[in-house]
Amino acid sequence: MSAADVFAQKFGYAPKVRAYAPGRLEFIGNHVDYNGGPVLGAAIDRGVETAASARADRKVRVYSSHFGAVVEADMDHLTPLTGEAAWANYPLGVAWAMAKNGCVFPTGFDLAVTSDLPGGAGLSSSAALELSTAMALGGLFGFEPGPAVLARWCQQAENDFVGVPCGILDQGCSAFGHAGRLVLIDCRKETFSTVPLPESVRFWVFNTGKKHALLDSLYATRRRECEAALETLRRFYPEAKCLADLTSQQVKDQFAQLLPEQYQRVLHVTQEIERVHRTIQALEQGNLAEVGCLLVASHQSSRELFENSCAELDFLVDHLVSLPGVWGARLTGGGFGGAVLAMTTPEFTAEIAAPAIAAYAERFGHAPTVFTTRTGEGARRM
Ligand code: GLA
Repeated sequence: MSAADVFAQKFGYAPKVRAYAPGRLEFIGNHVDYNGGPVLGAAIDRGVETAASARADRKVRVYSSHFGAVVEADMDHLTPLTGEAAWANYPLGVAWAMAKNGCVFPTGFDLAVTSDLPGGAGLSSSAALELSTAMALGGLFGFEPGPAVLARWCQQAENDFVGVPCGILDQGCSAFGHAGRLVLIDCRKETFSTVPLPESVRFWVFNTGKKHALLDSLYATRRRECEAALETLRRFYPEAKCLADLTSQQVKDQFAQLLPEQYQRVLHVTQEIERVHRTIQALEQGNLAEVGCLLVASHQSSRELFENSCAELDFLVDHLVSLPGVWGARLTGGGFGGAVLAMTTPEFTAEIAAPAIAAYAERFGHAPTVFTTRTGEGARRM
């Protein structure tokens, strides 16, 4: 059912606007965004649809076909919710961030949500929900700041309302995606562009379904480790404003100054940034074998240096890269569970992956969910 149908059914009248925003894949540039480096991602061909109308009063009602009840809030007192209603913090947080940034809401609103994104698959359904909400509210109330500002407001909603200290990767990809292209974000300047992806590239996602119980706190821990290391390194390189301002050689030169795990985290970041640059070059040259090697090297670095992989992700990457048609594979997103992304030729099929899936099921007691996805268009009103 479309979001408009869900809206009409739930609220008893027709919505005024409809919007859509896609999920994303992190192609390469792992834990680089909040360190100011460049990242490559993609919007995919699945996402979140919203339908909305302004109300006559200052009430807010949000409903998702994936979660039972209508959540109600007051436009003038938006505060994060807990328990079953916590999913609504994403759309409420967007309204909150918009208001904080000077958007004047003349009334409250009703909003309905549908999605064809598999939840918890590391495809950032949260950013898709945020951007789709932002597009819908922008249409309703005439806030049109452009995609870069919308992406930033949505990140602010996630950071300061939902309470997840993510970077701009997810929101940027959802806002700036294009079919047949990767989204390149310079996270220091917060500028967004796209680079063409060779037509023959296919993406497969293998979702472990595993979500580390400490996922959010481990993400925040890694972020703090990077910040602490930067503080130390700035004693030697005072001009560095973020880890992306340092080269791997500079980091190696200060090996003795850093705690062992800080050294590993920083080296992952600086080397990953170098891999992003090399990936862009290899894509320009159409050298997909090289791109695949860089994806695998990125995973290896997550595994050994950043320590945000896990046995399930490693198992999938190790098995997938030996299969015909697979250029490369790596964990996609924050890590500590989630999904593996494989870049393949068009000839790759689920049948080719079957022995790897069977071996995985044997080892871990359940099979990963497997699906193929393509690049898609970014957030928009429908
Ligand atoms: C999550 C975050 C992103 C980014 C990645 C890791 O997806 O939401 O901002 O930090 O992890 O690269």
